[in-house]
Amino acid sequence: MSQPNGATPYANPYNHALPSYLQADNLGPWGIYLQQVDRVIPYLGHLARWAETLKRPKRALVVDVPIQLDNGTVAHFEGYRVQHNTSRGPGKGGVRFHQDVTMSEVMALSAWMSIKNAAVNVPYGGAKGGIRVDPKTLSMGELERMTRRYTSEIGIIIGPTKDIPAPDVNTNEQIMAWMMDTYSMNEGATATGVVTGKPVDLGGSLGRREATGRGVYTVGVEAAQHIGLDIATARVAVQGFGNVGGIAGKLFAQAGAKVVAVQDHGGTIYREAGLDVPNLLAHVAANGTVAGFAGAEVIANDAFWDVDCDILIPAALEGQITAANAGRIKARLVIEGANGPTTPAADDILQERNILVLPDVIANAGGVTVSYFEWVQDFSSFFWSEDEINARLVRIMKEAFAGVWSVAQDNKVSLRTATFIVACKRILHARELRGLYP
Ligand SMILES: NC(=O)c1ccc[n+]([C@@H]2O[C@H](COP(=O)([O-])OP(=O)(O)OC[C@H]3O[C@@H](n4cnc5c(N)ncnc54)[C@H](O)[C@@H]3O)[C@@H](O)[C@H]2O)c1
Repeated sequence: MSQPNGATPYANPYNHALPSYLQADNLGPWGIYLQQVDRVIPYLGHLARWAETLKRPKRALVVDVPIQLDNGTVAHFEGYRVQHNTSRGPGKGGVRFHQDVTMSEVMALSAWMSIKNAAVNVPYGGAKGGIRVDPKTLSMGELERMTRRYTSEIGIIIGPTKDIPAPDVNTNEQIMAWMMDTYSMNEGATATGVVTGKPVDLGGSLGRREATGRGVYTVGVEAAQHIGLDIATARVAVQGFGNVGGIAGKLFAQAGAKVVAVQDHGGTIYREAGLDVPNLLAHVAANGTVAGFAGAEVIANDAFWDVDCDILIPAALEGQITAANAGRIKARLVIEGANGPTTPAADDILQERNILVLPDVIANAGGVTVSYFEWVQDFSSFFWSEDEINARLVRIMKEAFAGVWSVAQDNKVSLRTATFIVACKRILHARELRGLYP
């Protein structure tokens, strides 16, 4: 469109419609990540010289995913795969199918994977992928075609020694099976180690499906002990009752805690005496949502933040605990099952209110830890027992938590900043040892 003077509205070549990805403002989840990195730079000592590495994803791929729908028309979807950092090993991180997926989100999630993998000291860098789609609108055939085309498109950068995807929101074992098959067909050889979170009959690992929730529970119990909170009498509220929230809720209930409120995309339910978690899990398995569960009252979604509880577990999506609701939260402990559920402004409010936040980058690292076990088992084609896997998971999570806790005490910083200090030092030390190529 021409202006009256003949100039176009974008005549100034420096007046970009899209901001640089290095600007922390208005960049959504990636901007939040940049702010988190800035908080940690003063603690990095001589490694601060390399800190800029953390602010730049190594590689970001945008792909077009066209498929034929069941009605004969062609639909195109936006697909992404971002490898944030590979200094410590191949990229590793989930694939999300959700209608709100953006480049900013995938970049942030890939960076949090770098931090998380370094925090629990598994030999991976960080990566993440996603498709901007509401998979609930697709038939099984459409979902399979979309998954396979996406896998083919990102096939140029993934692989068992390059970048290993896994499940995330709205992706599961079946999707991982299709991804493994598609990659293997293109390679001409079965490559089980290209994805983790596969079905157990296809090179998956026992314990993987429950691993993230089990990790949330394991470090949650450790943190609770430090603040004198008794799990057996604790009241728990969970947002998101899928893979992570559902398993974490089950384990807390088994330990005697009362799960008093659960919220998911379908609504919010509450029961002061505690919900019957096994029955609720069966209801979600049958109906896809907690909505309609008998034996609970329905409360307004916004009232979830006012629920009287000791432990709050956000286990849905990012950006849920904000400056608008952080002042209302009653819990003494927030365990971040989801990635990026708390904004930096909310983090500060929770800290001022003396509410302990167990950050995502340690709290939900159980999934990638057992993904690492799956990858190792696939390479050796030798599979471990579930007891062995759970015992190793618990040991790694407890050791990582203890390390982060002492760094937080020594530096008088939040557990999030402490986890970033531990992880960023490991990443940047690896970068320093490797040096710059060429
Ligand atoms: N699956 C893993 O191994 C894993 C590992 C680490 C972190 N995470 C993170 O945990 C979170 C949940 O992942 P998941 O694998 O359990 O996904 P999932 O698809 O199994 O479950 C997602 C849950 O969130 C709920 N939800 C969606 N939108 C919501 C909304 N607007 N309000 C309230 N609830 C909403 C859904 O109803 C569902 O209960 C994500 O942030 C993910 O990145 C997952």
